[in-house]
Amino acid sequence: MKFLIITFALAGAIAAIPSLDLRTGDENVELGSVITDLINKTINSLIENLDEPLVLDDINVDENSEGLSGTIDVTNIKISGLKSLVATYIDVNLISKIMNITIHIPDINLQFAANVDVVLAELIPLYGAGKNSIDLSEIELTITGLIDIHDLKHIKVQDVGVLIHLDSATFNLNGLLNNVEFTALINTMLTDNVAAFINDNDALLSKVLGQIIEDIVNQNTTMENFESFP
Ligand SMILES: *[C@@H]1O[C@H](CO)[C@@H](O)[C@H](O)[C@H]1NC(C)=O
Ligand SMILES: *[C@@H]1O[C@H](CO)[C@@H](O)[C@H](O)[C@H]1NC(C)=O
Repeated sequence: MKFLIITFALAGAIAAIPSLDLRTGDENVELGSVITDLINKTINSLIENLDEPLVLDDINVDENSEGLSGTIDVTNIKISGLKSLVATYIDVNLISKIMNITIHIPDINLQFAANVDVVLAELIPLYGAGKNSIDLSEIELTITGLIDIHDLKHIKVQDVGVLIHLDSATFNLNGLLNNVEFTALINTMLTDNVAAFINDNDALLSKVLGQIIEDIVNQNTTMENFESFP
């Protein structure tokens, strides 16, 4: 372990000196794979430490504006499937600090209870209550940005962008307008369109998802994460 800490510290110190020529010689290939393994270990340990299902805070909206008035309560929000996340491709340029990482998740299941009673645009009433579930399949994230590994206890990332692609998004919402037929229609419409919408609008989602990933990585990486490094 001590040897590895020294190796990483060395690798970090070298990465911190951009003028050093890392482009030639076999050592660089090895150094590159050490860094790749280190990043993969970080990802794997972030995932290992996640609860499954992951329970998120309730969301309570109590609005009274022209666009939206009324209340929305979303409770019992649970996400399963993140534990199966695998980084399938990791490329980091030690000089430019540009990272390019591909993440694959076979399935994500999102469950939540919702109680909605709002009027949209002072015109359209939207209400209903029920338990809901959304299944996403074959999710692939391409994460690019800058990675700072010179302090190995605290890997930092910035300017993170995320391109997302998924095979399908299956909606099973319940209780919309307290009307079974209407709810079935909406479920079909969402299931038919949302995956394509996400795939077509990933530039739009890229910044939002990038910010979430920056927050997770920049807050969570500590040396403890590397204790299990072989
Ligand atoms: C990262 O680690 C996982 C789990 O050990 C492994 O399946 C995967 O191939 C690794 N990815 C890379 C890019 O090395
Ligand atoms: C990231 O790597 C993938 C696979 O090699 C490549 O297609 C893509 O263009 C790269 N993206 C960036 C921003 O470098």
